[in-house]
Amino acid sequence: MSTKFFAFYFAFIMLVFFVTRTEGLSIRFQNIICRAEDPKFIRFDTCKITAVSRKSQYITVKAGLLERPLTKFRLRFFFMQRLNGWKPFLYDWSIGCNFTKTLNKLTSLVWDIVRNISNFNTDCPYYQETVDIPRAENTYFQNILKMLPIPTGVYGLFIQEGTEAHKRVHVEIHIQVS
Ligand SMILES: *[C@@H]1O[C@H](CO)[C@@H](O)[C@H](O)[C@H]1NC(C)=O
Ligand SMILES: *[C@@H]1O[C@H](CO)[C@@H](O)[C@H](O)[C@H]1NC(C)=O
Repeated sequence: MSTKFFAFYFAFIMLVFFVTRTEGLSIRFQNIICRAEDPKFIRFDTCKITAVSRKSQYITVKAGLLERPLTKFRLRFFFMQRLNGWKPFLYDWSIGCNFTKTLNKLTSLVWDIVRNISNFNTDCPYYQETVDIPRAENTYFQNILKMLPIPTGVYGLFIQEGTEAHKRVHVEIHIQVS
């Protein structure tokens, strides 16, 4: 990510910070979709949202990795905002092996989040048989939103693995911020 983009980003969050009540932002998971585009590469055993109470929910994902060790990957994750259909929103990242060697402030926060909610804790080579997110709670992300406030609305986090020609994984999480 370029320095210019970063400067823009910080100006943007400062603006949002002053126009929203960041204390009050709440997150609701609306939907989660996990698709094994290449069933020889991955198998999803669990992919669901569990409601604990009206205000409290969590996501569980359990997947088996079928090609091990994983020595090469291309993971793209991007946010879309639902307006009239999905429109790109602010972030669109792609990472490959050795991504931990080039972390910046923002991507190291994301990497912290990933390590805290899942068993995914190294980059390549990746030897584990599974990718497990046992319990990613909405309240955890509400706390993170205090650091990275965004306008209210419905967002989609899209996570894809593979190349345009050979997609292997597609995950989509729809999130309401209000
Ligand atoms: C990642 O780094 C290791 C050690 O520095 C290197 O052996 C490996 O080839 C790198 N992998 C990729 C895909 O760049
Ligand atoms: C991740 O977990 C560590 C240890 O519990 C904690 O210190 C850190 O603040 C957490 N980071 C995030 C982004 O949740």
